[in-house]
Amino acid sequence: MNNSTTLVRRQPGSIRLHGPEAFAAMRKAGRLTAEALDMLVPMVQPGVTTDAIDRAVFEFAIDHKAFPATLYYHGYPRSCCTSINHVVCHGIPSDKPLREGDIVNIDVTFIVDGWHGDASRMYAVGEIPRRAMRLLEVTHESLERGMAVVKPGATLGHIGEAIQVFAEAERCSVVRDFCGHGLGQLFHDEPNILHYGRAGEGAVLKPGMFFTIEPMINLGRPHVKILADGWTAVTRDRSLSAQFEHTIGVTETGVEIFTRSPKGLDFPAQPAPPRPATLP
Ligand code: MF3
Ligand code: CO
Ligand code: CO
Repeated sequence: MNNSTTLVRRQPGSIRLHGPEAFAAMRKAGRLTAEALDMLVPMVQPGVTTDAIDRAVFEFAIDHKAFPATLYYHGYPRSCCTSINHVVCHGIPSDKPLREGDIVNIDVTFIVDGWHGDASRMYAVGEIPRRAMRLLEVTHESLERGMAVVKPGATLGHIGEAIQVFAEAERCSVVRDFCGHGLGQLFHDEPNILHYGRAGEGAVLKPGMFFTIEPMINLGRPHVKILADGWTAVTRDRSLSAQFEHTIGVTETGVEIFTRSPKGLDFPAQPAPPRPATLP
């Protein structure tokens, strides 16, 4: 029997397969999540606090009948994660202002009609150093290459290999301590999506699987540590770290990306440069 109070529980070792109605629900959740990330683009400027960004995310969610999944999740206190410079992931918004030259990942997960859309992008705060821009490009391309190999019959290892081979050829490293995840009516479900590995390893992809791909790529070594707040993950060598994330579904023929920017702002996620002053 099925009714609205059916419990959705994580089933270790089994990957849920979803039908057309679930795809429609994920399209809606993914789109709203991407629209929130689009809404933030003009806001990410020197002097703006990550608390102000967090408030904007919360209000956007409520205004659109959604709820930010991270708020109260295992005690997490905010509506998004904001991870600046050497912060790898799970940075907690605070009253500290962004500074010119920072790179910041903003990670938003919305629950819409019970379904989760989870996405993150890197934003440049004003002008950023060349090496930072290179890291953003490498990380964004890593995610694109990981998504490009998704189709029925491929393995999870194909995704990991596509990301790892590219990132390491660019002399960057892949964080091992965090991974992507299945999601749908649950935030974090089976399977784990490793951002490294070899083609042929891991589960075989089937139509109807939903998961995130969210590689964290470092300019230095891959090792991370967690700060005393219990959440903030940073690179041990304090090298710059970047991440992009999409929520995707496996289709009969390939992949559907639920969290693409409707405005084409997936990359670069930064405001257009000011127009040159016109002559009188
Ligand atoms: N959105 C993150 C992810 O990509 C999870 C954040 S959980 C939090 O899976 F509690 F740290 F917010
Ligand atoms: Co995620
Ligand atoms: Co996320």
